[in-house]
Amino acid sequence: MPEPRSPDRKPAAAQAAAQAAAQATAQATAQATAQATAQATAQATAPRSEYASYMRTDELLALQRSDTQLLHRDERLFQCVHQATELWLKQANFEIGHATSLIEASQLVGAARILARASDCIDFITRQLDILTRMGPVGYRALRPALGQGSGVQSPGWQGLRAAAPRLHAAFTARRQAERMSLAEVFGCAGDAPLQLLAEALLDLDGKVSLWRTRHLQVVVRTLGGQGVGTRGMPVHALAQLLEQRLFGELWEARAAAPGSA
Ligand code: HEM
Repeated sequence: MPEPRSPDRKPAAAQAAAQAAAQATAQATAQATAQATAQATAQATAPRSEYASYMRTDELLALQRSDTQLLHRDERLFQCVHQATELWLKQANFEIGHATSLIEASQLVGAARILARASDCIDFITRQLDILTRMGPVGYRALRPALGQGSGVQSPGWQGLRAAAPRLHAAFTARRQAERMSLAEVFGCAGDAPLQLLAEALLDLDGKVSLWRTRHLQVVVRTLGGQGVGTRGMPVHALAQLLEQRLFGELWEARAAAPGSA
């Protein structure tokens, strides 16, 4: 006859198994923690990759408010679009400065080519505005206190562009006068005269800036409404009036009036 099982034999085995399992879990946890610590230490002490140190990604990616600082999750998007815009405007102004020097050195075709790059930069910042149409007014209202009285009007890139444009225009005019050509002649001459190519490049740039203003106004109206007021107290309808502004107004008129323009 089989010996009757002691009633506490099974629980004892189960206890041992549970103890072993707990031990294994503790061991695994300790191992994982040690691994994570080692990884973090290695990361902290590892030399930055060449990419990270050349692109300065650590600094760049620390320039946005942290997750805990955000007043609304859309604030990250808002900051990201503005910061990226400043980078592209910095690049645009750099190109415009170089184009101005090239015109002063009579390298007109080279200047036109460089100005095309500046126009591309403005194109990028206009396209970036699209994503802000997907930010609701609620998000904007929530993040607005973080901006205080700050406004896009104070954008260093925008101010730089407004300062660089008259210098560019002056260089173009000085070159045109040195070649003894009127604006009508510049736009009226047949073929691709360098001065005409350059004038067209100036118009392209002006046109891109104008498109940015138009798209920006759409975003503003979509967010604040047509009767809204900006952080600097500028009513949205006053912003609409700026749409008429041109960097090189006389070029638009001259081109349209030129007798033989292509
Ligand atoms: C939801 C998004 C945006 C809203 C609601 C908004 C609102 C406004 C308002 C109301 C103004 C008039 C001035 C004021 O009182 O502040 C303004 C001007 C301006 N904003 Fe924005 N803005 C937005 C996005 C942007 C972005 C992404 C940029 C890029 C840097 C920007 C740059 C500017 C500039 C440069 C001006 C002056 C415009 C000019 O002189 O024609 N804004 N904005």
